Amino acid sequence: MNEVLRAIRERRSVRVFRTDPIESEKLEAILEAARWAPSGRNTQPWRFVVVESKEKREELGRVVTQMDMVRTAPVTIAILRDKDAGYDEIKDAQAIGACAQNILLAAHSLGLGACWLGRLRDPQVEKIIGAKENEELMMLIVLGYPAERPGTRDRKPLAELVRRI
Ligand SMILES: Cc1cc2nc3c(=O)[nH]c(=O)nc-3n(C[C@H](O)[C@H](O)[C@H](O)COP(=O)(O)O)c2cc1C
Repeated sequence: MNEVLRAIRERRSVRVFRTDPIESEKLEAILEAARWAPSGRNTQPWRFVVVESKEKREELGRVVTQMDMVRTAPVTIAILRDKDAGYDEIKDAQAIGACAQNILLAAHSLGLGACWLGRLRDPQVEKIIGAKENEELMMLIVLGYPAERPGTRDRKPLAELVRRI
């Protein structure tokens, strides 16, 4: 198995974090990976708000259900859809999903843990992170050094998922 396949296979959602900060080069590399995701017509409809300050993390923690994760993780990345940048709502959302997966895999490859939080168009979160008029929240991704080693999670067998014609 090559490195990419191994990272895809071994990445797991991490929900418990150490409070150690993330090195800025690592954070930069993760955001770079996000930027290189594919998007329809290369419209790159994603925008990122990197939430690092203790104050903002506390504020987010008050409105997000999994508050401990958001408070403890040193970084939360909010991914927003720029409604003016894309060209098709569903395709833009698909591109942003690819972008989020790049973040998860890049984090994993750098020894960090991450978890995708499904917070969609949440007005409270959008206010806290200062989303612009033309932007809507697509998800939050919490990031940090793992304080847990999640066990393997099952997947449905290919035989149940694939039809070959
Ligand atoms: C669209 C989406 C929404 C998710 N929302 C949450 C969430 O709100 N809270 C959470 O703890 N995990 C969330 N997850 C993570 C999934 O629970 C996780 O990916 C799934 O259980 C498989 O586990 P694994 O990532 O360890 O392989 C979300 C994942 C996706 C793709």
